[in-house]
Amino acid sequence: MLFQLSEEQLMIRQAARDFAEHELKPGVIERDEKQKFPAEQVAKLGELGFLGMMVSEQYGGSGLDALSYVLVMEELSKIDASASVVVSVNNSLVCYGLEAYGSEFQKEKYLVPLASGQQIGAFCLSEPEAGSDATSQHTTAEDKGDYYLLNGTKNWITNGGTASTYLVIAQTHPELKHKGINAFIVEKGMEGFSVGPKENKMGIRGSDTHSLMFDDVKVPKENRIGEDGFGFKFAMKTLEGGRIGIAAQALGIAAGAYELALAYAKQRKSFGKPISDHQVIAFKLADMATQIEAARMLVYKAAWLKDQGLSYTLAGSMAKLYASKVAMDVTVEAVQVHGGYGFVKEYHVERLMRDAKITQIYEGTSEIQQLVISREILR
Ligand code: CAA
Ligand code: FAD
Repeated sequence: MLFQLSEEQLMIRQAARDFAEHELKPGVIERDEKQKFPAEQVAKLGELGFLGMMVSEQYGGSGLDALSYVLVMEELSKIDASASVVVSVNNSLVCYGLEAYGSEFQKEKYLVPLASGQQIGAFCLSEPEAGSDATSQHTTAEDKGDYYLLNGTKNWITNGGTASTYLVIAQTHPELKHKGINAFIVEKGMEGFSVGPKENKMGIRGSDTHSLMFDDVKVPKENRIGEDGFGFKFAMKTLEGGRIGIAAQALGIAAGAYELALAYAKQRKSFGKPISDHQVIAFKLADMATQIEAARMLVYKAAWLKDQGLSYTLAGSMAKLYASKVAMDVTVEAVQVHGGYGFVKEYHVERLMRDAKITQIYEGTSEIQQLVISREILR
């Protein structure tokens, strides 16, 4: 295994670092406070090719590897996790799902504008009564011959208000349980499809989270992804890669908070010396750096396995479980290192601490990652 990044990967990481510093940092506190979606910044991310990073050039993507993608996620998340979750959902859930499992018609019509960043996508699995227990879908898709009739509610959908294309999971044959579930492409503006109010969240407040309502929405048959009954497998396979993206987001949040704490500890003085000269603070920083490096190894390994075409189910879940815990631990300590200044908004670490929490919840809670990991190792 190589521990060295290629010239191209280093360049991509630098481009993401520059973007985060110059385009995301200004206004990040205000966007968080006002729950403002980073629309201009997302448009620029699209122009840079960061919204369809792993999609082949044939479909308007950048044709890059998963390792480059996690490098970008890490850098953006150091500054603004509300922007990086858009990158994560669009790349690893929506674009990946369409490229890996969509028909040629679906790729031409939907993937091309999503990969080039002209449009944003959403991935709609969770429901009011089906979060972790994702097989118990209540949304129904009745087969009406040349179309499906979609009815139900989806909850907590990232990019819910801003997306144009929605991948929606629904139950077609309840008697078949998870084998009766399908995945559909739904367009904004289809009759009977409406978007609920934006959720008022603890963290990633700039991201656009909504419930979605489907009331007799007619979805053309050609918008079903894969064979009849493939929907649950589609969701699971797609989420395997998504979890690597969120693990990279957690890694970035942790690394961002650590970098701020390190710089602050060197310049803040107490008892006549920089606080980094107090061993307790120096050891906190040592622990933070070590945890982050361990998380980074897990995240990069999961991406590397994906790039090699090897199984990454276990590695992706381990990376997400561990990196999200590190994000929580490190951000709490970063606030502590800042003392009272850590508790106010202009020092950024309190936002990173609030943002860290979601990485233990979405794309499978930590308990669900433990379930996946335990099933894999006990198999
Ligand atoms: N790949 C392929 N198939 C898989 C799979 C995988 N990784 N994991 C499960 N399956 C298949 C199983 O093989 C089984 O099919 P067969 O009977 O044909 O073999 C079927 O799916 C059901 O699997 P289980 O029997 O294991 O089902 P379960 O109910 O015991 O457990 C679960 C399933 C792993 C808990 C799953 O429901 C799960 O992952 N839940 C979490 C949901 C989640 O992650 N939601 C995220 C929403 S998106 C999001 O959050 C985006 C965002 O925030 C930005
Ligand atoms: P529940 O499933 O009700 O879980 C409650 C608690 O019980 C958790 O601690 C859980 O770990 C635990 N638990 C449940 N079952 C078990 C078990 N078998 N063993 C041990 N513990 C268990 N979903 C989408 O589909 N698309 C999105 O774009 C999306 N974006 C989101 C954005 C935000 C900001 C949020 C908050 C959520 C988002 N989600 C999205 C939903 C997210 O994936 C779910 O919230 C998550 O999967 C958990 O489901 P739940 O909220 O119903 O919790």
